[in-house]
Amino acid sequence: MKTLMLFSTRDGQTREIAAYLCSQLSELGVDTAMVDLNRTESIDWQLYDRVVIGASIRYGHFHSALDRFVKKNTTALQAIPSAFFAVNLVARKPEKRSPQTNSYTRKFLLRSPWQPDACAVFAGALRYPRYRWFDRFMIRLIMKMTGGETDTSKEVVYTDWEQVAGFAKELAQLSPK
Ligand SMILES: Cc1cc2nc3c(=O)[nH]c(=O)nc-3n(C[C@H](O)[C@H](O)[C@H](O)COP(=O)(O)O)c2cc1C
Repeated sequence: MKTLMLFSTRDGQTREIAAYLCSQLSELGVDTAMVDLNRTESIDWQLYDRVVIGASIRYGHFHSALDRFVKKNTTALQAIPSAFFAVNLVARKPEKRSPQTNSYTRKFLLRSPWQPDACAVFAGALRYPRYRWFDRFMIRLIMKMTGGETDTSKEVVYTDWEQVAGFAKELAQLSPK
């Protein structure tokens, strides 16, 4: 049996975090399988004894595939130990990095029919040179308004990898239902 690591990413940071969680879980003796949530049609739940879903925020929202997936698979998600992690730039501020203080995550948990057993919020990456001009313009505006990096030649990874490793330990300890 394996841990299913589902991720929903646009620019790759959530995939990187998911891969890091898998490498940490592997060191803890846990087998994992990574699956792109935005590309999967159906899951063979019999293969897994634990599930983790990670998703990033773009313009205030998780990808719509997340809600669709949760709605379609609520029963399966509730039946085994499960966890959720959110990735966004608001979380670059430590005080906005918990499920209660990160508004995207708090709102998701409030309206989700699935209630994960563990939840984390990770700061994502700011990669100006990779964005299209409109996104670069918008992100810079948001960064200016919130006191963040405004130099558009920069790529900054805010993810706290120690926090991610800590979450992997928490995942490994989730007890069977
Ligand atoms: C076009 C765009 C819009 C974004 N909108 C938000 C936002 O509304 N709030 C936020 O906290 N972060 C926002 N971000 C930051 C992303 O959540 C962050 O870059 C994250 O690392 C993206 O993860 P991904 O690469 O897995 O998609 C935005 C990023 C981009 C490129």
